[in-house]
Amino acid sequence: MPQQVRAVVARAVGEPVTIEAVNVPDPGPGEAVVAVKACGVCHTDLHYREGGINDGFPFLLGHEAAGFVESVGEGVSDLSPGDYVVLAWRAPCGRCRSCRRGRPWYCFDSANASQPMTLADGTPLSPALGIGAFADKTLVAAAQAVKVDPRARPEAAGLVGCGIMAGFGAAAITGGVGRGDTVAVFGCGGVGDAAIAAASLAGARTIVAVDVDGRKLEWARRFGATHVVDASAGDPVEAVRGLTGGFGADVVIEAVGRPDTYRQAFLARDHAGTLVQVGVPTPEMTVELPLVELFGRGGALKASWYGDCLPTRDFPALIELYLAGRLDLDGFVSETIGLDGVEEAFARMRRGEVLRSVVVL
Ligand SMILES: NC(=O)c1ccc[n+]([C@@H]2O[C@H](COP(=O)([O-])OP(=O)(O)OC[C@H]3O[C@@H](n4cnc5c(N)ncnc54)[C@H](O)[C@@H]3O)[C@@H](O)[C@H]2O)c1
Ligand SMILES: [Zn+2]
Ligand SMILES: [Zn+2]
Repeated sequence: MPQQVRAVVARAVGEPVTIEAVNVPDPGPGEAVVAVKACGVCHTDLHYREGGINDGFPFLLGHEAAGFVESVGEGVSDLSPGDYVVLAWRAPCGRCRSCRRGRPWYCFDSANASQPMTLADGTPLSPALGIGAFADKTLVAAAQAVKVDPRARPEAAGLVGCGIMAGFGAAAITGGVGRGDTVAVFGCGGVGDAAIAAASLAGARTIVAVDVDGRKLEWARRFGATHVVDASAGDPVEAVRGLTGGFGADVVIEAVGRPDTYRQAFLARDHAGTLVQVGVPTPEMTVELPLVELFGRGGALKASWYGDCLPTRDFPALIELYLAGRLDLDGFVSETIGLDGVEEAFARMRRGEVLRSVVVL
């Protein structure tokens, strides 16, 4: 029987989100219905609402979730009702040109549910990042549901499904931060702080946190920042150079998503350094860089989608680090809220009051 559940929907650009009755079909072949227990509010949800991702309104928001599998469709053999899962927005197909070349993290045909969830009047919804988990239940491709240790509480575990994995992987996987490296992170929200935590675990010797908000800088220290720079108080490029022997950092992570911070991050690199862009730009943004610096510094400019992760490999590993007390996922949970608190959570995110508000169901 298809079910009707409560869910948070963005109907039009910039309009406050609303709670709607949403139809969730029974899982078809290769699909699963997941009863959501917790879902973090990520800046990307706000990007969707602001029309910054695409114009596929109405969107069913929420994509950082943990919950229990309720039912699975035909042909699903490795997932059962009752399994505790974190939802992934990447589920490599194994067949596209990227998967076949051994780069499944660039998969071009990542699995999603093939049936739409709809508003009560039948209007199909676009689930954010193919998930849509600000909802009592959601329909996903079974391959998007990654089993993890149920001892990890859902408020913390769900965050691994987007922001934490994106930031962690930006540093540990895309940026390849290693022992003794110097690292700078521009933007210390949930994503940037996860990059800081990963750099710390990897043995980076200097980790400079850059933000324009003093509260964010204090929190960044908890995740392993060795130095903090208030970019509203002076030139952050000079500050990063000053803290890295005058050279700039080996790996610089841009976790804001703006041209000015991208440019600063570019200039804050040492020779042969790596810039990792994880902040999501909007379509109209452009950046101008001095070509001589681009050539003269060498190194690499990379973009990191989802931290170049493989969810089935990396989610259980991050959850194990959490359970072992080595990755402070609880530290990212600033508050828990109900489904009706998402709009206010966007405002709190904009005011810089939270790392993550987490919807609990
Ligand atoms: N690439 C991916 O796969 C991926 C995944 C998740 C999120 N993201 C993106 O990462 C970015 C960060 O997400 P978040 O959830 O941490 O957002 P957030 O809003 O919590 O954090 C952004 C931080 O940037 C800071 N900031 C703003 N202007 C700044 C400036 N000029 N200089 C320095 N710091 C500045 C803010 O104070 C804030 O602390 C967003 O663009 C989000 O869409 C990317
Ligand atoms: Zn593929
Ligand atoms: Zn996200």
